[in-house]
Amino acid sequence: MSVAHYMDTMDYAPAPEGSAEAQAWLAAHAGGFGHFINGAWTGAGRDTAFDSTDPATGKPLARIAQGSAEDVNAAVAAARAAQGPWAAAGGAVRARHLYALARMVQRHARLLAVVESLDNGKPIRETRDIDIPLVARHFYHHAGWAQVQASEFADHRPVGVVGQIIPWNFPLLMLAWKVAPALALGNTVVLKPAEYTPLTALLFAELAAAAGLPPGVLNIVTGDGATGALIVDHPGVDKLAFTGSTEVGRLIRERSAGSGKALTLELGGKSPFIVFDDADLDAAVEGVVDAIWFNQGQVCCAGSRLLVQEGVAERFIGKLKRRMATLRVGAPLDKTIDMGAIVAPAQLARIRSLVATAEAEGGTVYQAPGAAEACPPQGCFYPPTLITGVQPGATVAREEIFGPVLVAGSFRTPDEAVMLANNSRYGLSASVWSENIGLALDVAPKLVAGVVWVNATNLFDAAVGFGGTRESGFGREGGREGCHEYLKPIAWDERPVRPAAPKTPPSGPAPAASLASAPTAQMFAMPSLDRTAKLFIGGKQARPDGNHSLPQFAADGRLVGEVGAGNRKDIRNAVAAARGAEGWTKATSHNRAQVLYYLGENLSARVAEFAQRIATLTGASAEQARAEVDASIGRCFSAAAWADKYEGRVHQPPLRGVALALPEALGVVGVVCPPEAPLLAFISLVAPLIAMGNRVVAVPSGPAALVATDFYQVLETSDVPAGVVNIVTGDALTLARTLAEHDDVDGLWAFGSAELSTLAEKLSVGNLKRTLVDHGRMIDWHDERAAAGPVLLRHAVQVKNVWIPYGE
Ligand code: NAI
Repeated sequence: MSVAHYMDTMDYAPAPEGSAEAQAWLAAHAGGFGHFINGAWTGAGRDTAFDSTDPATGKPLARIAQGSAEDVNAAVAAARAAQGPWAAAGGAVRARHLYALARMVQRHARLLAVVESLDNGKPIRETRDIDIPLVARHFYHHAGWAQVQASEFADHRPVGVVGQIIPWNFPLLMLAWKVAPALALGNTVVLKPAEYTPLTALLFAELAAAAGLPPGVLNIVTGDGATGALIVDHPGVDKLAFTGSTEVGRLIRERSAGSGKALTLELGGKSPFIVFDDADLDAAVEGVVDAIWFNQGQVCCAGSRLLVQEGVAERFIGKLKRRMATLRVGAPLDKTIDMGAIVAPAQLARIRSLVATAEAEGGTVYQAPGAAEACPPQGCFYPPTLITGVQPGATVAREEIFGPVLVAGSFRTPDEAVMLANNSRYGLSASVWSENIGLALDVAPKLVAGVVWVNATNLFDAAVGFGGTRESGFGREGGREGCHEYLKPIAWDERPVRPAAPKTPPSGPAPAASLASAPTAQMFAMPSLDRTAKLFIGGKQARPDGNHSLPQFAADGRLVGEVGAGNRKDIRNAVAAARGAEGWTKATSHNRAQVLYYLGENLSARVAEFAQRIATLTGASAEQARAEVDASIGRCFSAAAWADKYEGRVHQPPLRGVALALPEALGVVGVVCPPEAPLLAFISLVAPLIAMGNRVVAVPSGPAALVATDFYQVLETSDVPAGVVNIVTGDALTLARTLAEHDDVDGLWAFGSAELSTLAEKLSVGNLKRTLVDHGRMIDWHDERAAAGPVLLRHAVQVKNVWIPYGE
């Protein structure tokens, strides 16, 4: 073809990136890959194997080993052996290693980009300009965290051996997001890449060994979900980090419940892309292209739900359709294409079936004229697609399609935009477009999402945490909060196992014998009309639904009162009250601090009475009881102090703009208190939660619940708004079960027996609520490092990152 021809037609000529180096690397491994364990390859062909194929052609690229139990055992053993020396080497040494990895990635950027495009089908333009540079950036950034670890995370230790399971949509980038922080902070890793895309992880392992990473620090085991499950179940793994589908994330939560393994889940999304009528519509159209047609839409945070303000909706859709006609789908290694191949035939089939569902549900499916025909005839290709005319409840408006398919709708007012945007079981990201920065920044905090982009989309940086809420998972990757996911507080690491609970006294009315001590004057005094302490729900004392009560005994066995035996209905009422107290989350931190100070002040007016109660119920000495009350007052003041100081940060990622890391309340949090330290543990847990704007449903210590019920009066006199703190007494396991299963509860803190921890983690899978449990290990509640300040505050919030690029 002549230049004149192209000048006439304005067609792009193909401009393929050379793949000779990648082919040579594959040829060198023509016999198949083994696993990379303890710095060396296991023999290929020892395990059953499968092909990794090029989705653009369907041709096999390499033979990949299916990791067996033996392989996973060997990898975990290698990681375990390396972990001590790796941690002990110190941050400065690890920083050098990470820095070397970053350099290695940069030196081999082209090879990595080509192998990634071959294996995944994504355009070389993206692997070259986005994936691989971000991989290098991640290792550089985390080399820095290793360097400053000793001072910045002085109270923390590495978690230990980390099992990491990653998906196929950003194979090497997801490896970097997981491996860089884990290694930087002194952990060792067993990582399983996705079965569709294992090649860059294997290449990376080879490069890491060449860069001098010590054996055992990074182990790569390949295989499918069955190999993943072996990692999840392995008792030698201390923490699991997973990115992938919500379905598998939920399974992992369930399987690992009670194992003591820490867990972070980065799951799916159905993220809103909101365009207000004053937005720069042309810029927003480019935003949509990036939001849903980047990486063929196989992006967890894809802006897959377009919401356009009614007045401009028609014009916007018109512009978008015109732009769709210019998008080019083709060979991934061609530098002129916009979209490559879908990762695998199964994913293509899933996309097709969801689009068919949209049509069946009355939606209008649009593809640019000739777009389907222009796709290469072989391989897994799918053209950019737009669906309009579906209701918010339609399948395609709710389900993650994970393909180049956008679902569009409209809204009238900002409030309606927020309502529609949040009408999802997911909460990963959101994109807001408006030239009115005041409006955009008003909307951003109202969106249920871990990341919000203002007039932008799909921006990522190693310094800026990424992760979601609700069924998009929990935990953050990147930045300071991401580092914490790979660390544990020293003060918690040394907790002793809680002694077995003394035999629970029989429920129901106390036997007469326990009252039959020598008559005292008190026994002949006027009896109180109702000695049963009620529950505290929505700012009012409430009788338990079942009208049952539980006896409360003094340490010496005397009956000293009764508390209500709360049931499911009481918990539901309490959760509803907490839901209704949203004003507390919106209140200023100054305001919340004042209430907490007042709480401390009012408690200090009743020291003697509380000390007496604690001494009676727990058998503590007068001095110990007094110390518990004093420490509890201290905790109110500490939480008040932190309320307006546990603040966000301003990140300055490498672009013209900022990212605001805002700690946000989780919402409604259930708190099951441990049996010990009935007042101090209760306040140590509840105060930081409410300081950060959460509303709480608390189940006080079983044996000494009367202490917490006495606390109602303090709450009532301290301007704590109704519904912010609700107290339901009763059996911890029964009530924890209802809290864990309740979809309106966003977080659950359960302290007590190991059985309670397991139950809380296992039953929280419904809405994937964040849990904090102690696995039956007892905090020293008097130790401020373990029971006050950031150690707990961190769990009382989740960080939302709001990206605000600037410039005309
Ligand atoms: P997946 O969740 O099954 O796979 C992700 C990773 O988990 C892979 O490494 C896989 O081998 C592993 N895995 C699968 N089952 C496992 C188990 N029982 N235990 C431990 N590890 C296990 O995702 P899949 O099947 O590849 O894709 C299905 C759908 O998931 C997609 O259509 C998309 O909707 C969603 N997805 C979301 C991703 C995200 O980044 N949010 C990434 C990949 C898929």
